[in-house]
Amino acid sequence: MLEVENLHCTLGTNEILRGISFTVAGGEIVTVIGRSGAGKTTLLRVLCGLENISRGKICINGKKACHGDYGLVQQGCCLFEHMTILKNVSYALQAVKKFSTKKAKAIALDMLTQFGLKDKVTAYPSSLSGGQKQRVAIARTLVMDPKVLLFDEPTSALDPEMTNDVVIMIKNIASRGIAVLIVTHDLAMSRRISDRILFLERGKIVENRPTEEFFLDPHSEQVKGFLKNMALL
Ligand SMILES: Nc1ncnc2c1ncn2[C@@H]1O[C@H](COP(=O)(O)OP(=O)(O)O)[C@@H](O)[C@H]1O
Ligand SMILES: [Mg+2]
Repeated sequence: MLEVENLHCTLGTNEILRGISFTVAGGEIVTVIGRSGAGKTTLLRVLCGLENISRGKICINGKKACHGDYGLVQQGCCLFEHMTILKNVSYALQAVKKFSTKKAKAIALDMLTQFGLKDKVTAYPSSLSGGQKQRVAIARTLVMDPKVLLFDEPTSALDPEMTNDVVIMIKNIASRGIAVLIVTHDLAMSRRISDRILFLERGKIVENRPTEEFFLDPHSEQVKGFLKNMALL
């Protein structure tokens, strides 16, 4: 269970996050939606310790969160282009977890096999499709055994069929008991995948609702306006 309480974050002279509180239970998929500039990426960066908070508390399973609790799948995958797919997935196990090469490779191979990428282990990222790259990026994050998995725009570069693949994969990951938090512009995807939706505006959460309630019966004027603009209400 991820618990975020009264989070504040200032970048430069602007307060970007202005008192954010929410929870994501293990196995739950929560999506953060909001206009460009609302603070979505900043929220993910704060959660994984890439930005400092000025106030607030982040706990995982009742304890103060630490770096290794999170896995972040960044926008655009960011694979290591000069490494094979196997090395992309095994690298952090050796460099961060200090596993032996043999153990790291075995774990990476197992994860890639689960994701249908066994025949790609010796390939380089440039030879993969967008959907395959996204799967490698997710496998690379998952081998680190995170308690919370964060995604920044996981489907922004994918066509509908590949998006479907990623949706199935993320649901499968959540069913292992991992808390999943997704930032996205892809409303159709968020509707299919999420248990709950958070709507962020100017650094504050204006709605935190079960997915269908969010889309069918938004309470706030902000979300009503947003969905109307998208011709969804
Ligand atoms: N390093 C930074 N310094 C100052 N302002 C920043 C920095 N990074 C982002 N911002 C500002 O913070 C706001 C939120 O950005 P971001 O979290 O990227 O929004 P979103 O992902 O919702 O589009 C924007 O107004 C952006 O200009
Ligand atoms: Mg962003």
